[in-house]
Amino acid sequence: MNIKIAKTNNPVIDLIKDRWSARSFSPKDISQHELETILEAGSWAFSSSNSQPWNFIYTHRKDASFQKLVDCLMGGNQPWAKNASVLIAVLANKKNDNGTENKIAKHDVGAANATLMLQALSMGIYGHVMGGFHADKTIETLSIDAEKHEPIVFIALGYLDSADKLEEPFKARELTARSRKSLSEISKHFV
Ligand SMILES: Cc1cc2nc3c(=O)[nH]c(=O)nc-3n(C[C@H](O)[C@H](O)[C@H](O)COP(=O)(O)O)c2cc1C
Repeated sequence: MNIKIAKTNNPVIDLIKDRWSARSFSPKDISQHELETILEAGSWAFSSSNSQPWNFIYTHRKDASFQKLVDCLMGGNQPWAKNASVLIAVLANKKNDNGTENKIAKHDVGAANATLMLQALSMGIYGHVMGGFHADKTIETLSIDAEKHEPIVFIALGYLDSADKLEEPFKARELTARSRKSLSEISKHFV
């Protein structure tokens, strides 16, 4: 199995080094209990004023609704995401409890997604975030109240399978080593 461990310059913890965005998913199902563990982990992310402005709408591969969420994805994501065990549409709550706009909700949704991804990996389950989806179709398919909620990303979850199962260009992407900007590009010491 292809494992794309990050090569870091500093002693980053294994869970972060070992996470990567997989595309080859095995036929093994994620159970409802496993999924609830992953979602609960996401719920323990930090958020502004503990507003928790996230909402996860999920479907298992065996559900009749699964294909409806696959159909919401853009063409470049469908060929591999259709083999995920679980698909999640992640929504942001646009408003605070007092009715004002939550301007920072997308930050908190990202924090929840990162948190649930690390929980998933600790259970041997890989995830892949997708911004490539049709927003209008998602809103219609899921009967989302667009005044209150905005679909932000989809997440595919599944156990890992061989890259050989993928067609190109997805196979090549699955096998390409991960890379990051250097610390000097993304940070500076303000003295
Ligand atoms: C907000 C967001 C949107 C993304 N959208 C897509 C997508 O539509 N399709 C895709 O294949 N990967 C998508 N990705 C995955 C990124 O390409 C991936 O995280 C990045 O290349 C780093 O690779 P790594 O996660 O394996 O470290 C997305 C990731 C994020 C965080």
